[in-house]
Amino acid sequence: MIEHGQGPIVGQTPEMLQLYGFINRLVDMPTNVLITGETGTGKGLVAAALHYNNRNGRGAKPFFTVNCPGIAEGVLESQLFGHAKGSFTGAIKDYKGYFQAAEGGTILLDEIGEMSPHLQAKLLQVIQQRVVFPVGSNTPVPVNVRILAATNRNLEDEMSKGTFRQDLFYRLNAFPLELPPLRARIDDVPLIARYIIERYAQDHGIEVTGISPAAQEKLKLYDWGGNVRDLENVVERAIILRGAGEIQAEDINYDWTSLSQTTETTERRQERTIYDILKETERSCILTALANTKGNKNMAAKRLGISKKSLYDRINRLGLGKKKIVKNSPSDNLADNVSSEGNGSGTLAKVWTFTEITSTYDIPLGSFTGFMQRIGVRKVEKGRYEMDPEQEKTILETYGRRTHLLR
Ligand SMILES: Nc1ncnc2c1ncn2[C@@H]1O[C@H](COP(=O)(O)OP(=O)(O)OP(=O)(O)O)[C@@H](O)[C@H]1O
Ligand SMILES: [Mg+2]
Repeated sequence: MIEHGQGPIVGQTPEMLQLYGFINRLVDMPTNVLITGETGTGKGLVAAALHYNNRNGRGAKPFFTVNCPGIAEGVLESQLFGHAKGSFTGAIKDYKGYFQAAEGGTILLDEIGEMSPHLQAKLLQVIQQRVVFPVGSNTPVPVNVRILAATNRNLEDEMSKGTFRQDLFYRLNAFPLELPPLRARIDDVPLIARYIIERYAQDHGIEVTGISPAAQEKLKLYDWGGNVRDLENVVERAIILRGAGEIQAEDINYDWTSLSQTTETTERRQERTIYDILKETERSCILTALANTKGNKNMAAKRLGISKKSLYDRINRLGLGKKKIVKNSPSDNLADNVSSEGNGSGTLAKVWTFTEITSTYDIPLGSFTGFMQRIGVRKVEKGRYEMDPEQEKTILETYGRRTHLLR
């Protein structure tokens, strides 16, 4: 387990022990590190560990995560490298970008595979010459920043397509760290699940005290396509379902893809008709998909491999709609929250691009991802987020409206 100032990286499998060995060797070096791995494998966590554990003073300096996709190239350029007063309409004073603001610290360039060729060239210059040229300025500013980059894309493919510069790849890839998917370290699943429960108990004062051995075994059956983030969703849902005491196997509801692996006994299955079983499975799949997508029916339908219309039909047929619901089961309440439209007409939620959000609200870039996650905004796809009016209101109240492009 490695502490990083925001929480530990949990895991004791040989794969993780090897990773800790690499991290320990890398923390005190200025080396650029390319962190690769599927979504939810902990790339952000590892980057933070590399920064905060540094013992040469860097760990006490700023650590910024810059989310490359979805930001208009010009805006990202200013945000990274800064700009000079008057360099474009709205540039009312000199602006220090992240590279200057992070002086002495670390920048994580997240989803680096999405960076435009122009910015790739500018980044290469920073790495090679250790200076930045703010937009509209010919005066180089020396910078000392450690660059970490993360991606869940295969950059070798991007290079062969010509969308990622080879010279930049080799500079960033001074040390590659590949994070294994959770299914390749399945023995860590119970450990991480217990950690999630503990953290929940501390943060939210819940009365769930632990997880039964059978439930821990059940967790090991899943293939965890969304990795630790998926595991967090499943365990959080189990915590809510259980309410108090020890999580049991029946509280663990995998999503659609893994329900066939349910540990239900053959005897119990034989007491019911196949139609009962199918109906129950269908119901459970739908509730789980809705819970895992925080009620986003488009995404839930996608996960279930059915059309949105078919999802509505099933919600109605199974009585999961608002009025027909049988109360007192937490899983029913989930459907209650999410299936009120019934007829398939759109919800009040609206899809925004990253740029639309950041040009409307004054959210600091470094806080964007964390804040959006905290208020439950769904990332529909890369750079596109689904927000409801309540969430918009929360952003407005927290950060206010943007009055000018950049400060
Ligand atoms: N080994 C671990 N121990 C404890 N928590 C973990 C571990 N790995 C990941 N997490 C948690 O899982 C979630 C996802 O991790 P993180 O955001 O670092 O993944 P990522 O690889 O950056 O994903 P993405 O590619 O989607 O950005 C976070 O809440 C993180 O704290
Ligand atoms: Mg990440």
